[in-house]
This record gives sequence, structure tokens and C-alpha cells, in this order.
Amino acid sequence: MNESVIKTIGVAFAVCLICSLIVSLSAVSLREQQKENKLNDRRVKILEVADIKIEPDQTIAEAFTKLEQKFIDFNTGKLMDEYKNFNIDEYDQLISLKDSTLSSPVPKSEDIAIIKNRENVGKIFILRDDDDNIDKLILPIRGYGLWGTLFGYIALEGDFNTVSGITYYEHKETPGLGAEVDNVDWKKSWIGKKIYQDNQVALTVIKGKVANDDPSKLYKVDGLSGATITGRGVSNMINYWFGNSGYAKLFEELDYES
Ligand SMILES: Cc1cc2nc3c(=O)[nH]c(=O)nc-3n(C[C@H](O)[C@H](O)[C@H](O)COP(=O)(O)O)c2cc1C
Repeated sequence: MNESVIKTIGVAFAVCLICSLIVSLSAVSLREQQKENKLNDRRVKILEVADIKIEPDQTIAEAFTKLEQKFIDFNTGKLMDEYKNFNIDEYDQLISLKDSTLSSPVPKSEDIAIIKNRENVGKIFILRDDDDNIDKLILPIRGYGLWGTLFGYIALEGDFNTVSGITYYEHKETPGLGAEVDNVDWKKSWIGKKIYQDNQVALTVIKGKVANDDPSKLYKVDGLSGATITGRGVSNMINYWFGNSGYAKLFEELDYES
């Protein structure tokens, strides 16, 4: 009787041990693959907003080589090829937010997008034309909506003012309401809109529809119906990221260089 109890426990223990070994081994062996998949998810979004097609004979990573990646020092607006020991492919500025030596608290009075912390150095993507001029810039943006922070990318043309695309890759907004930021037609409605008017950030998501005869229609995007708060969050993040604490200094630097 006793012997069979011990045997049962022994067999159960052995089964547990073998299973846990299998689980740990698969977790370790799949880690690199998971990292690559996460990187590829992000790359697909960036390619989508840059309007770069992945050809049937191409991998995501191959299509992505069309884009140049640069670090951006938000304090100076300067682009850099190197930043500490970070590998630019793997650098994730959102991880920098957890390190007080790599990020800075945003003063409450400036924190219109409610991001709390801003990385000291970000990462942007550049698409160049055949003459090596900047055709598009793809810039990460984020800000608080109704339920949480929306994370996305906006693409600008080489005039650093005209929007050529916008996309979000993570948010907590309600399906059918705030989550309509993912609506293809709404995203298309951003194309051709202008960020700055007389050197001030002017682009906003309004409540309701932009009238066709509105003289300021280039600076206005249709609101999302029943989701004014999400729309306001999107406007606020445009305001923050295209202001002086965001990408405005970068555009000055790039204008100066060209
Ligand atoms: C369950 C629930 C989910 C909601 N989700 C959102 C949302 O994701 N984004 C948003 O702006 N408003 C959302 N709202 C509505 C807001 O509370 C608010 O009424 C709305 O933003 C006002 O927009 P409107 O003036 O266009 O109606 C939600 C409301 C409820 C009850």
C-alpha cells in the first residue's frame, strides 16, 4: 500500500519534472524567435505607414532595409548613428523610460499628451529618394486617450509638414469608439494634412466632420464619432511631439543641413 503511494508520487514528480524541463527548454529556445517576431510586428507597422510594400519574394527584414534608422537626441534635435552601446535595430525607447539616466520627467505644465516621462534619445526612420534627399520621415508618437496610452507612428513628407500616413500599434480604446483610430478610411483622411501653420502646431482632430469649404481644412481631421476624448488625445499627442520637446528641433536641424 505504502509502496504504491510512494510510487504514485514518484511518477507524478517525474512527469512534472519532465514537463517543466520541456517548457523551460522551449521558452529559452523560442526567446530569439519571439524577439524577432515582436521586432517584425513593429517593422510591418512602420512599413505600412511609410507605404512601402513587402514584395512576395522579400522578408519583412529585407523590405525594412529601405529605411534608414537614426537615433534622435530630443534635447538638441540632432540625429546620431550611435548612442551608448545600444544596437539601433534593437533599441526600444519605451524601455529607456524605465531608466532615469535615459529619460526625463516631463514637467506637468508641458505634459499635454500625458506621457509623464520622455526618453532622452528616440529612434526615427528615414526613407530617401534616388537623389538621397529625404522623401519621408517616420516618427514614433504616443499619448493618453481615454483608457490608456496610444502608441503609433506618423509619416511626414520631405517638407517636414505634410502628413503622408498615421498608424497605431497599441492602445486600449474601445472597439467601435476610440479604437476607430485603426479605421482605414480615418487613417487615409490624414494624408495631405499639414502639421504647422505659421510655425505653430495647428493640426487637430475636431469634433464632427471637416467641412469641404472650411479654409482651415488642411489643419483639421474628422472626429471619431462618440469618441471625442480619444480624438482630443490624438490632437494632444500631435501638439506635444511636434512641439519643442518633440521633433520641432529635428526639423530645424534638417532644414539647416539642406
Ligand atoms: C463603455 C464606454 C466606452 C467608451 N469608450 C470611449 C473611447 O474609447 N473613446 C472615447 O473618446 N470615448 C469613449 N466613450 C465615450 C466617452 O465617455 C464620451 O462620452 C465621449 O468621448 C464623448 O464623445 P462625443 O462627444 O463624440 O459623443 C465610452 C463610453 C462608454 C460608456
